[in-house]
Amino acid sequence: MSADLARRAREVQKNAYCPYSKFRVGAALEAADGRVYVGANVESASYGLTICAERMAIGAAIADGARGFSRIVVATDVDPPASPCGACRQLLAEFGLDLQVIAVGPKTERRWVLRDLLPDAFAKATLTK
Ligand code: THU
Repeated sequence: MSADLARRAREVQKNAYCPYSKFRVGAALEAADGRVYVGANVESASYGLTICAERMAIGAAIADGARGFSRIVVATDVDPPASPCGACRQLLAEFGLDLQVIAVGPKTERRWVLRDLLPDAFAKATLTK
């Protein structure tokens, strides 16, 4: 149920390390087998090294051996809720364009399929043609 996944994203959002932007992001990524991996954004005094919550969640999932994903919830403190940035869309696309993407803010939520957030995606198939 996406309420559980949203709760996990909200929970991990509290751990975001974002002393520069103060923009807390939490992500909960559900694998095809139901396992859930979470991530929060991590910033650096060398700003460009910042890693988004979504990519942290992907890293945790991959390190644990997961590959296929069904849903991701991204939690922020803004309405309308923030959608994943371009870099995160691209890395998520690596594992399938059918991913359900759910953004939750304090009051509202938005839903997409990754395919619609990244039209004409550059993907694995592009390299093998
Ligand atoms: N951020 C994310 O964690 N995910 C996104 O998809 C967009 C932006 C983070 C990066 C940075 O720490 C803060 O939000 C402001 O850009």
